[in-house]
Amino acid sequence: MIVLAPSILAADPVNLEAGVRRMEEAGCDWIHVDVMDAHFVPNLAFSPTVVKRLKQVTRLPLDVHLMMDHPETLLDAFMEAGADGITIHVEIGGAAPANPVSALLRKIRARGAKAGLALKPATPLSAALPFLPEADLVLCMTVEPGFGGQTLNETVLEKIEALRNTGYRGYIEADGGVREDNLKRLTDRGLTVAVMGTALFDSPNPAETVARLRNVGDWQSDLRGRTERKEV
Ligand code: DX5
Ligand code: ZN
Repeated sequence: MIVLAPSILAADPVNLEAGVRRMEEAGCDWIHVDVMDAHFVPNLAFSPTVVKRLKQVTRLPLDVHLMMDHPETLLDAFMEAGADGITIHVEIGGAAPANPVSALLRKIRARGAKAGLALKPATPLSAALPFLPEADLVLCMTVEPGFGGQTLNETVLEKIEALRNTGYRGYIEADGGVREDNLKRLTDRGLTVAVMGTALFDSPNPAETVARLRNVGDWQSDLRGRTERKEV
């Protein structure tokens, strides 16, 4: 069963709590929190404070996607805020041995969160291979990061299948342009986590959309525990 992770980038930013509760009630599994630094991507989004407050209003795991040139500057803050998973981009690493990706993935894991590694559409899978043993999740961006509501980049399907064919046993996640009409083509190639912003937050009936999506794909997802709801 596919893990459904609505992205709050597509939510109404002045009614985030209502949007997140609607996704939780609809039966979604994780909340995807896009963080942007207006440098790695030409947009700005969500701070550790937002993660901290979301942690108090939903029991769903928070899947934090750091689209930042220097994620190390806020890693501790997002961990302390309660992130259940933190994903960094492989593109931030320069040439070894200065490449910080491995150390950052290990640090995320050491703090008890899922360590994720993201690749932009144009980044080849080969860039991620050295880090797979340290990644609980690989995010194959299916759009150029920065904005929701874009069209899925079909060339990424091949990357997802190639990743599955390496025997990688972690979560395989896609983010950007994932919709009801393309999800099966993604799960058939090994996708196990679908980040969906527009397709879920713009749905007139998210619970019905989730029910239809539930039948897509046959991947058992060993959902990483659901945290207890913290009383506000
Ligand atoms: C891009 C963002 C989007 C968003 C989901 O940086 O990460 O991919 O989460 O976008 P849509 O609305 O296409 O599902
Ligand atoms: Zn994202």
